[in-house]
Amino acid sequence: MMRISTYQFLIRVLLPFCLVLTSLEFDPEDKYLIDCGSLDDTSVGDRVFLADSLNSSTLSTPEKIFLNASSNSIPSTYGKALYQTARIYNGTSRYPFTMKKKGRHWIRLYFFPFVNQYLNLSTSKFSVSAQNFTLLKDFQPSGAPTVKEYSLNMTDDILVLTFTPSTNSFAFLNALEVISLPNELIPSGAKTVDSNGENRNLERQALETVARINMGNETVPPQNDTLWRLWTSDSTYLASSALVVFVSNIGFVNYSSGRVSENIGPFSVYGTATKLNTVSDEGYMINATWLFHVDHGFDYFVRFHFCNILNPVPDNLYFNVFLNYEFAAKDLNLSTSGVPYYMDVVTRADSVDQLSVSIGPSSVLNTLPNGILNGLEIMKVSNSKDSLDASDAESQFKTTTSKSKVWVYVGSALGSSVIVIVLVLVFALLCRRRRRKHMVHSTLDQYAMTGVSTEEKEHSIESSIISQSKRGYRFPFAAVQVATDNFSESQLIGVGGFGKVYKGALSDGTKVAVKRGFPQSRQGVAEFKTEIEMLSQFRHRHLVSLIGYCDERNEMIIIYEYMENGTLKDHLYGSDQPKLNWRHRLQICIGSARGLHYLHTGSNKAIIHRDVKSANILLDENLMAKVADFGISKTGPEFDQTHVSTAVKGSFGYLDPEYLTTQQLTDKSDVYSFGVVMIEILCGRPVIDPSQPRERVNLVEWAIKCFSMGGMEKLVDPHIEGQAKPESLMKFKETALKCLADLGANRPPIGDVLWNLEAALQLQGSDQREGNEQSTNLYSETRVSTAQFSMGSVDDLAGVSMGRVFSQMVRAENAVDQSQKDTNI
Ligand SMILES: *[C@@H]1O[C@H](CO)[C@@H](O)[C@H](O)[C@H]1NC(C)=O
Ligand SMILES: *[C@@H]1O[C@H](CO)[C@@H](O)[C@H](O)[C@H]1NC(C)=O
Ligand SMILES: *[C@@H]1O[C@H](CO)[C@@H](O)[C@H](O)[C@H]1NC(C)=O
Ligand SMILES: *[C@@H]1O[C@H](CO)[C@@H](O)[C@H](O)[C@H]1NC(C)=O
Ligand SMILES: *[C@@H]1O[C@H](CO)[C@@H](O)[C@H](O)[C@H]1NC(C)=O
Ligand SMILES: *[C@@H]1O[C@H](CO)[C@@H](O)[C@H](O)[C@H]1NC(C)=O
Ligand SMILES: *[C@@H]1O[C@H](CO)[C@@H](O)[C@H](O)[C@H]1NC(C)=O
Ligand SMILES: *[C@@H]1O[C@H](CO)[C@@H](O)[C@H](O)[C@H]1NC(C)=O
Ligand SMILES: *[C@@H]1O[C@H](CO)[C@@H](O)[C@H](O)[C@H]1NC(C)=O
Ligand SMILES: *[C@@H]1O[C@H](CO)[C@@H](O)[C@H](O)[C@H]1NC(C)=O
Ligand SMILES: *[C@@H]1O[C@H](CO)[C@@H](O)[C@H](O)[C@H]1NC(C)=O
Repeated sequence: MMRISTYQFLIRVLLPFCLVLTSLEFDPEDKYLIDCGSLDDTSVGDRVFLADSLNSSTLSTPEKIFLNASSNSIPSTYGKALYQTARIYNGTSRYPFTMKKKGRHWIRLYFFPFVNQYLNLSTSKFSVSAQNFTLLKDFQPSGAPTVKEYSLNMTDDILVLTFTPSTNSFAFLNALEVISLPNELIPSGAKTVDSNGENRNLERQALETVARINMGNETVPPQNDTLWRLWTSDSTYLASSALVVFVSNIGFVNYSSGRVSENIGPFSVYGTATKLNTVSDEGYMINATWLFHVDHGFDYFVRFHFCNILNPVPDNLYFNVFLNYEFAAKDLNLSTSGVPYYMDVVTRADSVDQLSVSIGPSSVLNTLPNGILNGLEIMKVSNSKDSLDASDAESQFKTTTSKSKVWVYVGSALGSSVIVIVLVLVFALLCRRRRRKHMVHSTLDQYAMTGVSTEEKEHSIESSIISQSKRGYRFPFAAVQVATDNFSESQLIGVGGFGKVYKGALSDGTKVAVKRGFPQSRQGVAEFKTEIEMLSQFRHRHLVSLIGYCDERNEMIIIYEYMENGTLKDHLYGSDQPKLNWRHRLQICIGSARGLHYLHTGSNKAIIHRDVKSANILLDENLMAKVADFGISKTGPEFDQTHVSTAVKGSFGYLDPEYLTTQQLTDKSDVYSFGVVMIEILCGRPVIDPSQPRERVNLVEWAIKCFSMGGMEKLVDPHIEGQAKPESLMKFKETALKCLADLGANRPPIGDVLWNLEAALQLQGSDQREGNEQSTNLYSETRVSTAQFSMGSVDDLAGVSMGRVFSQMVRAENAVDQSQKDTNI
């Protein structure tokens, strides 16, 4: 910080005339601008790129090869003339540059793979290194002109840039910049902390600019930047442009009052912004999210640029900033108008090739929800192999806890007395990561919850439907419309008694299922309420998760996590979904039994689901089962009572006969229904099937009859015949029969059922080959093709590898969870 103020001081003393609102021209001490392959100097704006000459530079290369692009083949771009020529390296070539200054330098490499009569530059393949850092490895340039920008902290007097062609190929370069940077630009020793209190230091690291974005839907060209940076418009990175507003007030930016100079970000960057569109939805909580493609296995240095340029100037402006869905800043105070401010954060992209940046309304009371972002820079940090190339990524699967570690750099502008910010690292959140798995929403929602402004009381009718504590899940109708493409028929994935179910995606890319109730049946309102109350209370991997709800405009909309593979029922009969093998069926039974077990025993009062059926068991992309539909669930009996009396509800064919006659509901009613599902799974046919001969219409009656006569073969689904081991089948059948006992008291608790199902799975053994191969492959294919990482730009290949990576992660997680569970039960 001292250094920065000293720098500023020098600037002021030496260049006082520059302190007017004109550009501060930066003149780097080290400046090498070379137009490679050119015989003449080339001017780009006010900069001159020198002709490439073997004589003047000390480049060592096997052969001097210059190439001209055929005229008119270069797309219009900044420095177009530089791409007209190229130098070819047909062997390892080294450029040494003498450095006058120590510290950060930029290396900018210009590539455009043109084609002329001699050579097609797209056929090149090569590596580039600087000092000991790998910048590019087996790189094959393609497409439009690009500039790759790296920064190195020079401690030596000489910078050596090495081009190494891959076997049987060659390297090329159109132009080159090596320039020293203002000291204030990239921090080195700023105080850094991570979740474990480690210090993260960038001094030695090489950085690669991955994205440099100007918010406000406007590109800032290099000629408008004191350091010739290109700031790309944010519009293509916005997850949903419907929820934001672009603002531009360049005249508001006033550098003299803060400690941020124009070299950090020019007027055009601080003077435009993207802000939350909260005008039409006052009181609602909406995040604006930008998504970036990055390579996993690297740390990323992220700089957020802020400047309150809102007009009219708001009384105050507080908001939250998220990086990879974790807090980067909570309740950032940007109340002072016109003062540029920036904040540096480091995060790790561990397993997913995506980095997300969001701003959202803060929980500071008595402020209108709002938020603003003016600029963003993302830089990849070289890893322990001193590499920046994706092929050298360090996989971090073992330490899943570091998935989105966030280090917060206390930005050098922090000390400014003008801007006071509240910067809170959510240590507690990070430390309690294990518990968080089940609690992630409830914890985070407390922020959303406390942020709900008091004026919400005006919606008194709606408020009375859902208790206050669930308000954090509330979504604006506009956001649901965006997520479902305005309830487009093409998004429709199901229609039921309650309403229609749509597939959708939230602005952060999360896939969701959106259940929209038919308007205003009395019954519907009660179930809507129950479902939200129940779902928001519980988090379990085998219970479908609530993401939110919407009760605006008398809507009854519930938003759930999206379950890729639909209902269990559809995988058993009556649809063209692939049929499940025996092992999957057992695993699904075990999963749903776990879910029920959690409901029955997870809290001091049992929850009785009351509508256990195959249509209410959903399967995710890995065929993991989750119990859904809590619309008619009931809190079970108090300790001293054995049952609750209630009007009979449930689904025909699954109803506990004892409950039917006595109207006394116990957790054993769920066990009965679960027994019916087991029979359904075993037989692969509907519970009631009027097309069958009379004695077979009711599956359960028919099955019990067959079992008692010792005949089972007639019943078993032909799809699993031959796969299931007889012992395993027998165990399964016995367990199902116990569940179907007439008297609840004779049925086992769900925990015993679970235990027996696990035994049946063990009896099946670990043999994977027998006949399962086909359907296993089938599913792994589905999984890959449907794995969604919401990055439009991810190509197919990357999608495949990510899909694999992800499924590995899930498996590892399963193992952990399983072992924990087993000790619990
Ligand atoms: C480069 O050197 C060669 C011979 O050493 C000389 O003929 C040529 O004029 C020089 N070119 C430049 C641009 O200095
Ligand atoms: C490239 O083209 C320019 C002008 O058309 C010409 O003067 C120069 O000699 C050419 N260079 C090469 C390497 O062909
Ligand atoms: C580079 O090209 C020159 C001339 O075409 C040739 O003599 C030399 O052997 C080549 N070097 C390599 C490493 O291929
Ligand atoms: C140049 O090479 C690339 C990659 O091999 C190829 O896709 C492209 O068609 C080639 N262009 C021409 C004009 O030959
Ligand atoms: C590069 O690596 C070599 C050997 O691995 C080492 O001797 C040298 O000091 C390193 N140079 C720098 C600049 O780190
Ligand atoms: C560059 O490295 C030197 C020596 O390690 C260190 O003192 C300095 O702070 C670093 N500068 C930056 C900008 O990281
Ligand atoms: C963003 O800018 C582009 C190009 O200037 C324009 O086509 C587009 O409509 C703008 N987007 C919005 C949402 O204003
Ligand atoms: C860039 O600078 C020019 C001239 O100063 C100005 O007219 C233009 O609006 C600027 N562009 C942006 C995007 O700021
Ligand atoms: C910029 O801020 C300084 C001090 O904060 C103030 O004196 C000056 O008038 C402001 N300049 C403009 C153009 O608003
Ligand atoms: C905004 O994003 C954060 C991080 O993912 C999340 O915790 C929070 O609930 C979101 N807020 C809203 C209103 O969607
Ligand atoms: C936020 O910033 C404004 C303007 O600098 C200041 O008046 C206010 O006290 C700050 N709020 C907090 C909570 O620090």
